[in-house]
Amino acid sequence: MQLTLMYFSPTGTTKKIVAAVGKKFFENMLSKTQIVDLTPLAARLRSYAFDEEDVVIFGAPVYGGRVPPILKSVFENIQGNGARAVAISVYGNRDYDDALLETCDLLGERGFRVCAAGAFIGEHSYSALVGAGRPDAEDLLAATTFAIAAYEKVVNGAPIGKPVRGNRPYRELSASMLAPKKAPVFDAEKCVHCRKCVSVCPVCNIKADLSDCGRCIACAACVKGCPKGARFFDDEGVLAARARLEANCTERRSPKFFL
Ligand SMILES: Cc1cc2nc3c(=O)[nH]c(=O)nc-3n(C[C@H](O)[C@H](O)[C@H](O)COP(=O)(O)O)c2cc1C
Repeated sequence: MQLTLMYFSPTGTTKKIVAAVGKKFFENMLSKTQIVDLTPLAARLRSYAFDEEDVVIFGAPVYGGRVPPILKSVFENIQGNGARAVAISVYGNRDYDDALLETCDLLGERGFRVCAAGAFIGEHSYSALVGAGRPDAEDLLAATTFAIAAYEKVVNGAPIGKPVRGNRPYRELSASMLAPKKAPVFDAEKCVHCRKCVSVCPVCNIKADLSDCGRCIACAACVKGCPKGARFFDDEGVLAARARLEANCTERRSPKFFL
């Protein structure tokens, strides 16, 4: 039996929740554990196969109320073969809409038995004021509580007993969500050319000379990952989204469990 923590997490909040849930599973299972970070491009080009003794904790951020489109092809290269799975969506305090349901469906289609699902909150990729500092201590405690209940479900191999929130057909992804985005720009006075932005970009969009290749997904990895705060969005769509979020989505939302 092997425990796998699998996640896509450009700004690190999904990774924190999956790690907190995974820690509790590891304490119970004491099994071999592997971490599959799907954020780097190379990891999304590999194939992954599990078997029915395996347990996979799968986490992805919510993009436009859905699973990030970039993960669709990744699912095609994952074989569940009866492995048990826990599905996790992490969203930026607006809403997770159909993303958690879609994650469960995608895992089910790939041959996993999905036993538990949870929606958690992370600081929004586009604003430090929306979901500020989350996941925080309260969220990590919630992740542990969720993990204890999810572990019981996984041991029994029982499917989720209550409907996961969301609709089918899923909310439509806007055209802008599917098109390449305008990459964040950088402030030449603050930039120290450490190339951190180059290494954290999940689509290898930033060249060594810091110019871009036109395939940005606006995930904010380079913005939040820059140690000097030199990267920032100047795209009008992103700036408008940030203003809407800061005006409407600062009230604290709570994690939700489906067991
Ligand atoms: C392109 C894009 C679309 C997003 N759409 C949503 C959304 O529909 N609802 C929401 O609450 N947060 C949304 N977010 C915010 C992220 O889901 C949230 O910040 C999450 O914590 C990021 O996960 P990560 O830190 O693992 O990258 C979006 C972020 C991006 C980059």
